[in-house]
Amino acid sequence: VSAPIGIGLLGLGRIGRLHARNVVTRVPAFAAVGACDPYAENVAVELGIPVFSDWQALVSAPEVAAVVISSPTELHAEQIIEAARHGKHVLCEKPLDRELATLPGILQAVDEAGVVLQVGFNRRADRNFSQLRQELSGGAIGDPLLVKITSRDPAPAPLAYLKGSGGLFLDMAIHDFDMARYLVDAEVVSVSAAGSALLSPEIAAIGDVDTAVTTLTFDNGVLAVIDNCRQASYGYDQRVEVHGRNGMLLVDNEQSSTVRRADAAGYHRDPLPNFFLDRYGEAYVREMEAFAAAVAGTAEPIADGIDGARAVEIAVAAELSRKERRAVTLEEVRR
Ligand SMILES: NC(=O)c1ccc[n+]([C@@H]2O[C@H](COP(=O)([O-])OP(=O)(O)OC[C@H]3O[C@@H](n4cnc5c(N)ncnc54)[C@H](O)[C@@H]3O)[C@@H](O)[C@H]2O)c1
Repeated sequence: VSAPIGIGLLGLGRIGRLHARNVVTRVPAFAAVGACDPYAENVAVELGIPVFSDWQALVSAPEVAAVVISSPTELHAEQIIEAARHGKHVLCEKPLDRELATLPGILQAVDEAGVVLQVGFNRRADRNFSQLRQELSGGAIGDPLLVKITSRDPAPAPLAYLKGSGGLFLDMAIHDFDMARYLVDAEVVSVSAAGSALLSPEIAAIGDVDTAVTTLTFDNGVLAVIDNCRQASYGYDQRVEVHGRNGMLLVDNEQSSTVRRADAAGYHRDPLPNFFLDRYGEAYVREMEAFAAAVAGTAEPIADGIDGARAVEIAVAAELSRKERRAVTLEEVRR
């Protein structure tokens, strides 16, 4: 057994503390040798991870071979580039950035340093979606024709978070754009999106939407339809359907049990998982294990820098499409 790989954690908020806990308790290939979050040092202390008061010191520390970036989106680009310059492998949360202009610089820094960049598209590591993809690519339903993704959060994130998030398409639907690319295994050529702010006037006031439908057209003609909402009264709703020439593949919501109870009011089941930390708990562990394998050189990252960049392009096209109420080609946003 080789020695664990030293890993540093940047950001210990909602998702960062989960990654930190997984590294410490579930992924022996990594040893957490440092963590930096100016506003959540207690998390590092509780997990017994050495505290760094600034992230530059963490990404240049010799004991750190890899970093996990779970800081706010606006810091990702700068932190990836700095980590790569110090020769550190990077697992960065989505989105890579909110702007297309910074993407080439990120990819170039990573290429020049020869380090691994994995992007936090955790749903690729979900056992259900990865099985669906395997069956699809194995020809189980023939060629795919149409993908349908439903992705609804239980409740909107705090307004302060939404303000810096880049909007519904870059922050939330980006997972679904990546899922569509992951399943269809082709590139998107055009995007048509509609969005509304129906849940609260505050979301409208920051220029964002909370409800959206996006249609993607792939270069092989396959279509994908994605519906998103920041609120679902019944929990975190995550479903995927692929309609193929010879059949259909479907991933339904996971539930904490399969028990059903019938009474005069109808048939009842346990509620859906509350949110991503519950629904994708095991996927985050598998994502971290996949990163360890990529750093060790035994596997490719499950989602790399190109995947991260393509998803941002689709999200930027979707935002433009809904603002201007027209279809937008990827060629146009790349120009
Ligand atoms: N893959 C997923 O399922 C998933 C889920 C949630 C969030 N995210 C992404 O993860 C990122 C963080 O989201 P979150 O919901 O955890 O946000 P959050 O606001 O809960 O956490 C961000 C943390 O970063 C810290 N921080 C601020 N400045 C920092 C700095 N200079 N160095 C280090 N840490 C700093 C903040 O104090 C905060 O604790 C976002 O980019 C978001 O898009 C991904």
